[in-house]
Order: sequence, then C-alpha cells, then structure tokens
Amino acid sequence: MTNNVKKVDERLQHIAFIMDGNGRWATARNMPREYGHKNGARVFREITEYCHKIGIKYLTVYAFSTENWKRPKREVNAIMKLLDEYLDRQRPENASIRFIGDVSMLDPKIVEKINKMAEETAGHEYVLNVAMNYGSRAELVTAFNKLLAQGKGEVTEQDINSALYTGDCPDPDLIVRTGGDLRISNFLLWQAAYSELYFTDTLWPDMTSDDVDRAVDAFYSRKRRFGGLDKEPEKKD
Ligand code: FPP
Repeated sequence: MTNNVKKVDERLQHIAFIMDGNGRWATARNMPREYGHKNGARVFREITEYCHKIGIKYLTVYAFSTENWKRPKREVNAIMKLLDEYLDRQRPENASIRFIGDVSMLDPKIVEKINKMAEETAGHEYVLNVAMNYGSRAELVTAFNKLLAQGKGEVTEQDINSALYTGDCPDPDLIVRTGGDLRISNFLLWQAAYSELYFTDTLWPDMTSDDVDRAVDAFYSRKRRFGGLDKEPEKKD
C-alpha cells in the first residue's frame, strides 16, 4: 500500500466501479462463491475510504444488477445478508450513502434500513451511490416514464439527466471494471457517454489502493476531448 496519498483534482470528481471477480477469487481458493462476496464487501469498504482520502467527490459501485437475481438463491441471499450487515454496522461519518436501482424489490426490512441510512448520512460532500437491483436500461425506462407522468411532451438532455437515479451527480469521469471482462454490462449507459474506461484483470477482492492509483494515473494520461479538438487548428492567412 502506498503511504503518500496523491490527491485528485477537479478533473476527476466521480469514479464508478464494476466490482467483478468475487466468484472466481473464491473458486481459486476452493471456497464457495459467497466467500468471494464477503471479501468483496470488505474491499468495497476499503476502496470507499481510500477514494475519499484521495479527494474523490462521487463514487458509484455496481453491487447487484437486475440480472443477478438469476444466480442461485444461496448466493443471492449471501449478498443480501452482506448488504444487511453493512446497513446495520456501517455509519460512515464522511459520506452520503445513496442506493440507486429499484430497491423496492428488496426485503422491506432492508428497504427501511436503506431509507434510514440515506436519511442519516445526507448532506456530506462525498457521495457514495450503491447500485442495488440496478440496470441502466430499466433506469432509463423509469426516467422516461417519470417525465411522461410529469406531462412532458418533449424532453431535453437535462430533463433526462435529472430524472435518473444519479440525478444530482456529475457523470462519471472514470469507470473501472475489475475481473478482466471488457464490457459495461448495463451500467450507467447514459452517464458513461464521455467516461474514460479502465479495465483490469485484478479480481475485485484483490483490489488495493495501489490498483486505484494505477487507474487514476491511467485517467490522467488520457486526453479528454468530449468530441472537440485538443486545440484550435492554426489559421492560415
Ligand atoms: C461480481 O462478481 C460481484 C457481484 C455480483 C456482487 C458484488 C457484491 C459485493 C462486492 C458485496 C457488496 C456488498 C455490499 C455491502 C453492498 P462475480 O460474482 O460476478 O464474480 P465472477 O465473475 O468471478 O463470477
């Protein structure tokens, strides 16, 4: 672990993580997949703290997708139990914790704790979005229906932005996917329009602050043009 913390600047406000590889990490140790999620949850807490330390203002993590219900019941239950433990034990003093996704499909007791946590942690500058039962297409459908219900006949990009779960957050500057796969998997499709993408073979439970530093360094080595040019071409007389 690095002792010298290198702070980010205003160019990197929002990082999002696709936390992949828990199952493979456990299987490699001849352990059940649930063991991988348990360690994944530990690393999630560590990375959350580290990102705050380096000055990240918004952090979004993909914890459970709308497709993850297809997994064996035992595995789904294990992830829900980790979430429940997190809600019971964690009260970060420095972060506003929000849950994005259709949480109404979760156990009502968990929904109650989610709402309580969101209320109790509101107002901090550092925002942590935990995506639970999240799918980006479903998020967009929900947003469009919300706008229709408001009677909007024609919508602007700003309308769509504010109707999303991530409404008041800036778009992610950097999206990191661990676990070696090179895809976005229905995560922040709208918000990722100009995000820098970083893929690493590191499995999520092996992720350290040094890996975060590497992703951050990669981000700063890229030129973000947002569809424009680096600089105005020289005018010829
Ligand atoms: C993907 O790895 C990971 C998940 C589907 C679950 C992620 C959950 C956590 C990190 C715990 C979340 C905890 C809280 C407190 C919300 P995978 O299982 O798809 O791994 P694999 O690709 O190796 O099979």
